[in-house]
Amino acid sequence: MIHVSATPVLALRGVSKRFGAVQALTDVDLEIHTGEVVALVGDNGAGKSTLVKTISGVHPIDEGAIEWEGRTVRIGRPHDAQHLGVATVYQDLALCDNLDVVANLFLGSELKSASVLDEIRMEKRARELLDTLSIRIPSVRIPVAALSGGQRQVVAIARALVGDPKVVILDEPTAALGVEQTAQVLDLVERLRERGHGVILISHNMADVQAVADRVAVLRLGRNNGVFTVADTTPEEVIAAITGATDNAVTRRRARTATAPKEGAK
Ligand SMILES: Nc1ncnc2c1ncn2[C@@H]1O[C@H](COP(=O)(O)OP(=O)(O)O)[C@@H](O)[C@H]1O
Ligand SMILES: [Mg+2]
Repeated sequence: MIHVSATPVLALRGVSKRFGAVQALTDVDLEIHTGEVVALVGDNGAGKSTLVKTISGVHPIDEGAIEWEGRTVRIGRPHDAQHLGVATVYQDLALCDNLDVVANLFLGSELKSASVLDEIRMEKRARELLDTLSIRIPSVRIPVAALSGGQRQVVAIARALVGDPKVVILDEPTAALGVEQTAQVLDLVERLRERGHGVILISHNMADVQAVADRVAVLRLGRNNGVFTVADTTPEEVIAAITGATDNAVTRRRARTATAPKEGAK
């Protein structure tokens, strides 16, 4: 059974962000509960990346508030986000091709004993982490350059989990992948939900959204344009909200009433 928290683990309330003359975000609300996957969709320039960067501390918000487990917090730099328990996997994976899977997983958070790298403990932890996520990699001691695109994406996501974050943000994790490798990554997203993480999934792909997301939040021109429950929304309705094609009363009413399922409802 999947537990969805009653209080959102993360909430944005009326968040605005401006870059000089560009108003990238205006009065945006977003709620993420533990144990749910929220897809964040919108056209190019809608503000998706900016929104993620306000949460991950790259671009602090100008106005509004960010709440963590019901309390207002300040996320002024990436360290603040990490400290709260937010991990972000950016589109450019930033893996070190020449290093093996273990070294990539612990890059920047290496385990040491008496100031010497504890390779045995890191390898053990790496195997445990990959096992609990049902990730199958031929060997944790091969350079990531030797892995497929899907395996590399999965390693990048696994690396984000080393610090045991509560919220995991994935920016277009399947954009560069084929069908089979996409399925591998979407499987992992399911695992993250089962393990009780809150997941924000940025995606251009309605099939991916339909396959793994519980809710889908639409941004349009830097503003909210509906939050839909995936189970009772068609891809066409979501696409209409993305493009602003049918800004009709029914869509608006449905979008307003789509809230997260109550604990134990699943
Ligand atoms: N660092 C920046 N400096 C200036 N403008 C930016 C910056 N980042 C994003 N923008 C602008 O903010 C708007 C939203 O961009 P972005 O968040 O990247 O949208 P999306 O990820 O949905 O494609 C765009 O108009 C973009 O040009
Ligand atoms: Mg973007």
